[in-house]
Amino acid sequence: MERTFIMIKPDGVQRGLTGEIVKRLEQKGFNLVAMKMMNVSRELAEKHYDVHSDKPFFGNLVEFITSAPVVATVWEGEGVVASARKIIGATNPLTAEPGTIRGDYGISIGRNLIHGSDAVETAQREIALWFEESELTTWKPAL
Ligand code: CMP
Repeated sequence: MERTFIMIKPDGVQRGLTGEIVKRLEQKGFNLVAMKMMNVSRELAEKHYDVHSDKPFFGNLVEFITSAPVVATVWEGEGVVASARKIIGATNPLTAEPGTIRGDYGISIGRNLIHGSDAVETAQREIALWFEESELTTWKPAL
Protein backbone atom coordinates (compact mmCIF):
# COMPACT_ATOMS: atom_id res chain seq x y z
CA MET A 1 0.00 0.00 0.00
CA GLU A 2 1.23 3.52 -0.85
CA ARG A 3 2.71 5.58 1.98
CA THR A 4 3.74 9.21 2.39
CA PHE A 5 5.82 11.20 4.84
CA ILE A 6 4.19 14.26 6.42
CA MET A 7 6.02 16.56 8.84
CA ILE A 8 4.27 19.22 10.90
CA LYS A 9 6.93 21.92 11.06
CA PRO A 10 7.84 24.00 14.14
CA ASP A 11 5.33 26.74 13.19
CA GLY A 12 2.51 24.20 12.86
CA VAL A 13 3.30 22.75 16.29
CA GLN A 14 3.68 26.19 17.92
CA ARG A 15 0.41 27.47 16.47
CA GLY A 16 -1.47 24.49 17.87
CA LEU A 17 -2.35 23.08 14.45
CA THR A 18 -1.12 19.50 14.99
CA GLY A 19 -4.60 18.19 15.81
CA GLU A 20 -6.25 20.05 12.93
CA ILE A 21 -3.70 18.74 10.42
CA VAL A 22 -3.98 15.15 11.67
CA LYS A 23 -7.79 15.46 11.66
CA ARG A 24 -7.90 16.55 8.01
CA LEU A 25 -5.82 13.57 6.87
CA GLU A 26 -7.75 11.13 9.08
CA GLN A 27 -11.13 12.42 7.94
CA LYS A 28 -10.09 12.09 4.31
CA GLY A 29 -9.70 8.38 5.08
CA PHE A 30 -5.95 7.83 5.24
CA ASN A 31 -4.38 5.64 7.92
CA LEU A 32 -1.86 7.13 10.32
CA VAL A 33 0.78 4.40 10.66
CA ALA A 34 3.55 6.25 12.53
CA MET A 35 3.88 9.49 14.50
CA LYS A 36 6.56 11.00 16.73
CA MET A 37 7.34 14.43 18.15
CA MET A 38 11.04 15.13 17.96
CA ASN A 39 13.85 17.64 17.79
CA VAL A 40 15.55 17.45 14.40
CA SER A 41 19.33 17.20 14.17
CA ARG A 42 21.20 19.37 11.67
CA GLU A 43 22.37 16.18 9.95
CA LEU A 44 18.80 14.90 9.45
CA ALA A 45 17.53 18.32 8.28
CA GLU A 46 20.36 18.64 5.74
CA LYS A 47 19.75 15.11 4.43
CA HIS A 48 15.98 15.63 4.23
CA TYR A 49 16.35 18.86 2.26
CA ASP A 50 19.46 17.95 0.25
CA VAL A 51 17.69 18.63 -3.09
CA HIS A 52 17.55 22.27 -1.98
CA SER A 53 21.17 22.47 -0.81
CA ASP A 54 22.15 24.91 -3.57
CA LYS A 55 19.14 27.21 -3.02
CA PRO A 56 19.57 30.59 -1.32
CA PHE A 57 16.99 29.66 1.36
CA PHE A 58 18.69 26.37 2.35
CA GLY A 59 20.51 27.76 5.39
CA ASN A 60 17.39 29.41 6.80
CA LEU A 61 15.33 26.28 6.09
CA VAL A 62 17.72 24.05 8.06
CA GLU A 63 17.90 26.62 10.87
CA PHE A 64 14.12 26.74 11.09
CA ILE A 65 13.48 22.99 11.02
CA THR A 66 16.08 22.42 13.75
CA SER A 67 14.88 25.36 15.90
CA ALA A 68 12.02 23.61 17.75
CA PRO A 69 10.16 20.26 17.79
CA VAL A 70 8.34 18.88 14.76
CA VAL A 71 5.79 16.06 14.47
CA ALA A 72 6.91 13.44 11.96
CA THR A 73 4.19 11.17 10.58
CA VAL A 74 3.64 8.42 8.01
CA TRP A 75 0.29 7.91 6.30
CA GLU A 76 -0.97 5.03 4.22
CA GLY A 77 -3.70 4.71 1.59
CA GLU A 78 -4.40 4.48 -2.11
CA GLY A 79 -2.97 7.54 -3.86
CA VAL A 80 -1.96 9.08 -0.53
CA VAL A 81 1.12 10.93 -1.86
CA ALA A 82 -0.71 13.07 -4.42
CA SER A 83 -3.89 13.38 -2.38
CA ALA A 84 -2.04 14.61 0.72
CA ARG A 85 -0.24 17.21 -1.42
CA LYS A 86 -3.66 18.51 -2.52
CA ILE A 87 -4.90 18.65 1.07
CA ILE A 88 -1.70 20.49 2.08
CA GLY A 89 -1.85 23.01 -0.80
CA ALA A 90 0.76 24.92 -2.78
CA THR A 91 4.22 25.55 -1.25
CA ASN A 92 3.52 29.28 -0.96
CA PRO A 93 0.58 29.73 1.44
CA LEU A 94 -0.24 33.07 -0.20
CA THR A 95 -1.17 31.29 -3.42
CA ALA A 96 -2.45 28.05 -1.85
CA GLU A 97 -6.18 27.53 -2.42
CA PRO A 98 -8.57 28.23 0.45
CA GLY A 99 -9.66 24.87 1.86
CA THR A 100 -6.10 23.55 1.86
CA ILE A 101 -4.05 23.53 5.07
CA ARG A 102 -1.57 26.16 3.85
CA GLY A 103 -4.33 28.16 2.16
CA ASP A 104 -6.36 28.30 5.36
CA TYR A 105 -3.61 28.86 7.94
CA GLY A 106 -0.45 30.33 6.39
CA ILE A 107 1.00 33.43 4.76
CA SER A 108 4.76 32.76 4.67
CA ILE A 109 6.65 30.41 2.30
CA GLY A 110 9.32 29.85 4.93
CA ARG A 111 6.68 29.14 7.60
CA ASN A 112 4.33 26.96 5.58
CA LEU A 113 3.33 24.69 8.48
CA ILE A 114 3.80 21.28 6.95
CA HIS A 115 5.92 19.20 4.58
CA GLY A 116 4.57 16.38 2.41
CA SER A 117 6.54 14.08 0.10
CA ASP A 118 6.24 15.12 -3.56
CA ALA A 119 6.36 11.64 -5.18
CA VAL A 120 6.14 7.96 -4.25
CA GLU A 121 9.93 7.49 -4.56
CA THR A 122 10.59 10.59 -2.45
CA ALA A 123 8.18 9.28 0.17
CA GLN A 124 10.06 5.98 0.38
CA ARG A 125 13.35 7.82 0.83
CA GLU A 126 11.95 10.23 3.43
CA ILE A 127 10.20 7.51 5.46
CA ALA A 128 13.45 5.51 5.60
CA LEU A 129 15.32 8.66 6.66
CA TRP A 130 12.95 9.57 9.51
CA PHE A 131 11.72 6.21 10.80
CA GLU A 132 13.06 2.79 11.73
CA GLU A 133 11.15 -0.06 10.09
CA SER A 134 10.05 -1.19 13.59
CA GLU A 135 8.29 2.17 14.18
CA LEU A 136 5.91 1.66 11.23
CA THR A 137 2.66 -0.06 12.16
CA THR A 138 0.19 -1.96 10.02
CA TRP A 139 -3.53 -1.92 10.71
CA LYS A 140 -6.87 -1.87 8.94
CA PRO A 141 -9.73 0.54 9.61
CA ALA A 142 -13.00 -0.85 11.00
CA LEU A 143 -15.58 -1.44 8.27
P1 CMP B 1 8.70 22.11 1.89
O1 CMP B 1 7.51 21.47 1.26
O2 CMP B 1 9.10 21.66 3.26
O3 CMP B 1 9.97 21.95 0.92
C1 CMP B 1 11.05 22.87 0.90
C2 CMP B 1 10.78 24.07 1.74
O4 CMP B 1 11.61 25.20 1.53
C3 CMP B 1 9.39 24.58 1.45
O5 CMP B 1 8.43 23.69 1.96
C4 CMP B 1 9.43 25.96 2.08
O6 CMP B 1 8.96 25.99 3.42
C5 CMP B 1 10.92 26.30 2.12
N1 CMP B 1 11.21 27.54 1.42
C6 CMP B 1 11.70 28.64 2.00
N2 CMP B 1 11.86 29.62 1.10
C7 CMP B 1 11.47 29.13 -0.09
C8 CMP B 1 11.39 29.66 -1.41
N3 CMP B 1 11.78 30.91 -1.69
N4 CMP B 1 10.91 28.85 -2.38
C9 CMP B 1 10.52 27.56 -2.10
N5 CMP B 1 10.59 27.01 -0.87
C10 CMP B 1 11.05 27.80 0.12
